[in-house]
Amino acid sequence: LRQEALVRINEAKAERSLQDVKVNYLGKKGVITSLMKEMKDLPKEERPEFGQLVNEVRNAVEVEIESKRELLEEEALNEQLENETIDVTLPGRKVALGAKHPLTKINEDLEDLFIGLGYEIVEGYEVESDYYNFEALNLPKSHPARDMQDTFYISEEVLLRTHTSPVQARTLEKRNGKGPVKIICPGKVYRRDSDDATHSHQFTQIEGLVVAENIKMSDLKGTLELLVRKLFGKDREIRLRPSFFPFTEPSVEVDVSCFKCKGKGCNVCKQTGWIEVLGSGMVHPNVLEMAGFDSNKYSGFAFGLGPDRLAMLKYGIEDIRHFYTNDVRFIEQFKPVE
Ligand code: PHE
Repeated sequence: LRQEALVRINEAKAERSLQDVKVNYLGKKGVITSLMKEMKDLPKEERPEFGQLVNEVRNAVEVEIESKRELLEEEALNEQLENETIDVTLPGRKVALGAKHPLTKINEDLEDLFIGLGYEIVEGYEVESDYYNFEALNLPKSHPARDMQDTFYISEEVLLRTHTSPVQARTLEKRNGKGPVKIICPGKVYRRDSDDATHSHQFTQIEGLVVAENIKMSDLKGTLELLVRKLFGKDREIRLRPSFFPFTEPSVEVDVSCFKCKGKGCNVCKQTGWIEVLGSGMVHPNVLEMAGFDSNKYSGFAFGLGPDRLAMLKYGIEDIRHFYTNDVRFIEQFKPVE
């Protein structure tokens, strides 16, 4: 019996079958247990010897089962360790890297620059009132210059903003006639244009405004120089050309000297050596007064640029609609070089 039990223990390949063996011999109805029970049927004088023998066998079987269990546990652990080893020499799985939208890039670059110069970023409303989009910017009703910006009207007094300049007017009004004000305002604007490669009924602008005592045209020029150098490279020059905006006086159109670009507008750049990038000027006294600023004490400058056009020039994008049609193949071209 002992031999047989030991062989069965040895044969057990897993903890489960070992457990079966244990039940079979040592369980309540197990072979060894029933031998113990049979003891009472034996003649008295044989009992001690028999009992001793059965006990011995039982102890031996118990010890054997225990050591086999340990062995099996160790084997199982080893097998698990082997299966779960990590091969650190395998090549890693690549996580696909996204790309930033070129308009986001331009916005971030400029926000970076202007926050560094102590400006605040202010956002306004895309649905605006006629008052802030036009009147507060020195464009009364029936002013012919309103035609410069074809407007989507929602009602007589409510419209989709045609530029980010209403944010200037709102911010100035909130400051209760107290400078300094230094803000940039990025955002979407809308105009009633037929969409084609260079026109879109929706595009983006970034507005800049500084109002304080003693702000001069030279401050504007210095700021614009920083701006174009941030976007187009350290050795860019700027040129100011006289222009007209109702909310600035004098008004200037800003050109930048030729930079490396490949887009449509770039041909112009190659012919003249200059390319127009934004509009700006000294804040019109009427705009300051309407917002509650004393125009004898305060002066300021403002500029407005179009990230769409700038991104088209900088990255050689031939169609403005690419910015808005969400084709991932377009964005993927702006992935950082790996
Ligand atoms: N708001 C003007 C436009 O959209 C741009 C501009 C802003 C010009 C600020 C001068 C000063 O055309």
